[in-house]
This record gives sequence, C-alpha cells and structure tokens, in this order.
Amino acid sequence: MKVLLTGAAGLIGKEILKTLVAEGHEVVATDRVQFSAPASVKSSVGDLMSIEFAESLDFDCDAVVHLGSVPSPLGGSDEMVFHNNVMGTYHLFAAAVEKKVPVVIYASSLSIYGTAWSGPWTSPEYVPFDENLPLNHYESYALSKEVNERSADMWANRGETAFVGLRFPYCNSEAAINDFAEKMKQGDKETVLTGAKILWCYLDLRDAAQGVLTILKKGAKGSATYNFLAPDTNAPKPTMEMLAEFHPTTKVNTPLPGYATIVDCSAWEKVYGYKPKHLFKRG
Ligand SMILES: NC(=O)c1ccc[n+]([C@@H]2O[C@H](COP(=O)([O-])OP(=O)(O)OC[C@H]3O[C@@H](n4cnc5c(N)ncnc54)[C@H](O)[C@@H]3O)[C@@H](O)[C@H]2O)c1
Repeated sequence: MKVLLTGAAGLIGKEILKTLVAEGHEVVATDRVQFSAPASVKSSVGDLMSIEFAESLDFDCDAVVHLGSVPSPLGGSDEMVFHNNVMGTYHLFAAAVEKKVPVVIYASSLSIYGTAWSGPWTSPEYVPFDENLPLNHYESYALSKEVNERSADMWANRGETAFVGLRFPYCNSEAAINDFAEKMKQGDKETVLTGAKILWCYLDLRDAAQGVLTILKKGAKGSATYNFLAPDTNAPKPTMEMLAEFHPTTKVNTPLPGYATIVDCSAWEKVYGYKPKHLFKRG
C-alpha cells in the first residue's frame, strides 16, 4: 500500500515509519521539522497550518496516517496548541477527502477524557469506561482532540473517505514505560501523581504501529474512534487498590481483576481484533 504519514519526525511517527517500510509499504512522509528516512521514502518538510502546504502533499495514496500535532498542553499556549492541532488536522482531512483517499487514521488521545491535564484533581465518573464516558476538559489539548474527532465525522459525511481515530494512552518505548513504572514503585511524587492522572495506562510504540497496520489491512468505514491501549497497567499495585487510593469517588461498575486497565477497549477489539503484545513485565 502507499501511505502518507504526517508527524514522521516524532516519537510515534518514527516507529510507524520504520514499521511501514519494514512491511514493504510505499511511504510518503512529512513533518514540519527535518527528519531522516530510508532512501525509498519520499519526504517533505512543511507546516500543516499552511493550507497550501497541506494541499501540496501527495494524496495519491491508499491511506493517510496523521500524527502531526503538538502532543500535550505543554507544547505551547492553550491558544497555540488548539489552533495548531485543529487547523493542521482540518487542512489535512479536507485535502484527503477532496483527493478521495480511502482511509485516514489519526491520533486522538485518552487525554480527551480530561483526567490527564486537569488543574483540579479529576476522576473518571465510573470504571471501567468505554468511549461513551462523558468528556470533561480543562485545557485545549483535550479539546483539540475532541474537535478533531468531530471534524473526522463531518468529513466522513462529506465524502468517501473513512476515518479511524485512535485514543492513544501514554505511548512510549519499553524502556521509558519501565522507567516510569519503576519511578512510581519507588514513590517518586510527581510520577505517582502523573500515573494516577493518566490512569496507569500505556502502549508500547511497537503496538501503536501494529494497531495502524491492522487498520490498513482490515480497512474502515464511516468515522469511528477507539480506545486503544495495553490491557493491563504499569502501576505498582492492583487496579482496585490504586483506584481506592487515587480516585476514591469513582463508581466501580464492575470490579477489575489484578492489574487490569480501567479502560474498556472492546469496541476496538470487536472491529480490529489486535491485542497489544508488548506488555509491562512486573519484576
Ligand atoms: N506519545 C504519546 O504518549 C501520545 C499519547 C496520546 C496521543 N498522542 C498523539 O499522537 C500524535 C503523535 O504524538 P508523538 O508523541 O509522536 O508527538 P511528537 O511531538 O513526538 O511528534 C509529533 C510531530 O508532529 C509534528 N507537528 C506538530 N505540529 C505540526 C504541524 N502544524 N505541521 C506539521 N507537523 C507538525 C512535530 O514536528 C512532531 O515531529 C499526536 O497527535 C499526539 O497528540 C501521543
């Protein structure tokens, strides 16, 4: 398949670029910063905030994988993050629909639920929760992800392009996930609080790439977004104990066994079947 990849210089983009090439796909890669890519990859540098640049990309492809966004509220002012993530994505979606690309896969985020970056401590209303948990934002990174999901819905109504949004959790290398877990275990205050805010969810970069490959293989229809993350946590204690300590107001609809994640990914599993394989090894 021929795939147009945005955000190719980034953490997830680099892994997906490597995986797509290794799987024999033809890749057209872009980012607003310089990046290195294998000789077979046609690459370009430019800002998706420019509609002219977005429209100049090679949309003569089977799929777009869109990761080119600021990945947290720490990446700039509220206004800048919102503007960058929403308008860059809008330009890309519009051009993909105009050029009749069959499928656009894009990164949403578990931050959309609002616990990760809230100023006041925020807990999920209930667990386990699926994609229907009400969104409760505090800042514009989460809001940008919601707007982009609605934008995908609109563009899917307007054309023949299908959209799949992946609500990624904290995504990183095995080493970084292990390091984060170790710091929580050692009681590092900041990491412990961050862990509770991101609900102890994680996804190994290799599984993020496999998720994208699975969508490319199975295809898509309409517009849908899915929670997509490891089935367990990297927390130091079982999930029910962690919830009681950090999110005591959360209603537990079904008790969670052992280290099971509190996020329900069954919608993803039902449609795409792929279960993350690179799981945290508890020492
Ligand atoms: N890494 C995570 O833990 C995580 C979790 C949830 C969601 N996500 C989402 O996944 C995507 C990729 O995240 P990442 O962790 O690889 O981030 P990253 O910052 O490492 O990579 C993002 C890339 O996008 C590029 N970019 C940003 N704005 C752009 C623009 N206007 N035009 C062109 N390129 C632009 C940046 O230069 C960067 O190389 C983002 O949409 C992010 O919100 C990431």
